[in-house]
Amino acid sequence: MSSKGFASDAKIGAVGGLRVGVVGAGVMGSNHARVLAGLPGVTLVGIVDPLPEHRARATALAGCRAFASLEELFDEGVDAVTIAAPTHLHHEIALACIARNIHILVEKPVASTVEEGRDIVDAAKRAGVTLMVGHVERFNPAVAAIKQAISGEDILSIGITRVGPFPPRMSNVGVVIDLAVHDIDLIRWFTESDIVEVQPQLSSAVAEREDIALLQFRTASGVLAHINTNWLTPFKARSVTVATRGKYVMGDLLTRQVTECFGFKPDGSYSMRHLPVGHDEPLRAELLAFLDAVRTGNLPAVSGDEGVASLEIAIRCLEQPAKPAASAARKGPRRIAG
Ligand SMILES: NC(=O)c1ccc[n+]([C@@H]2O[C@H](COP(=O)([O-])OP(=O)(O)OC[C@H]3O[C@@H](n4cnc5c(N)ncnc54)[C@H](O)[C@@H]3O)[C@@H](O)[C@H]2O)c1
Repeated sequence: MSSKGFASDAKIGAVGGLRVGVVGAGVMGSNHARVLAGLPGVTLVGIVDPLPEHRARATALAGCRAFASLEELFDEGVDAVTIAAPTHLHHEIALACIARNIHILVEKPVASTVEEGRDIVDAAKRAGVTLMVGHVERFNPAVAAIKQAISGEDILSIGITRVGPFPPRMSNVGVVIDLAVHDIDLIRWFTESDIVEVQPQLSSAVAEREDIALLQFRTASGVLAHINTNWLTPFKARSVTVATRGKYVMGDLLTRQVTECFGFKPDGSYSMRHLPVGHDEPLRAELLAFLDAVRTGNLPAVSGDEGVASLEIAIRCLEQPAKPAASAARKGPRRIAG
């Protein structure tokens, strides 16, 4: 390959803006490309995917060039890359980018294992490149409104529900790595504290991997939290409740309605109000935050260390093997295709 591959800091933000590429033209990567194509100060260099039909779909969606290999993208010269390839490839692709001093946003979860995640973090620190992890839920305006509402409050407990139907394509991970990792990150972010105790209950009712998870946590700051997640609900639901000493905050992450109860009186009465919530597309806000960190050299909104910490908790939840659900155990395991 050529010696191109990245632009030096001196070139970042120069005429034409940041040169950005996307790796993986699947569901997430195509969305990254669509959003990046519309951002000011960004030149979307192209998207990489080994599958011609995925390249064609992404090109149609984002109007950008597409490449069959990472090397071809490097040859064009890029300052930053977003990595939305399957999780088991994050490590290899991230290290290849870091070796060329290319700033990276890695989709969640940061890697398949904690060791691989730490490797990426260490390599990025050594090279001095920006590494951000794509915990996009932090950029959901409803989540931002909840975070603001509980700022400075004495948080007591958090409950998060993230349920829905089976994804159209089954990947090789269960609900804990696919879904709960979003909420593990939110619990750590809301409380600004590490999770120190984990009590997972997992079950595989239909899939080979866990498809129901009830996860309980205690943070170092003493907050109790739980996550209820599954792929057995016919509709999507995502909700967050936070109890603090002075407030009870309820947020629906899909309708983006956030309400707080406050002013508790000894007679049991209280006040209630809906909170203002923004309209930003979370992925757009996330990518803007990443590009801002690249341009300024400031710490990114979601650091590699935070991504690894959330992955570590998710993996601890999985250390207890999933049991078949009661009815499945009676009838024998039922597996889904793929
Ligand atoms: N932040 C979120 O809310 C969110 C949501 C979904 C997925 N994700 C994450 O995004 C990543 C991708 O998930 P997805 O749902 O888009 O998967 P996907 O299967 O739709 O897409 C993955 C794409 O990567 C391509 N690919 C395979 N090998 C490659 C390689 N060597 N180089 C480049 N591309 C390669 C595949 O052909 C496919 O097009 C995963 O890490 C997943 O956990 C995050």
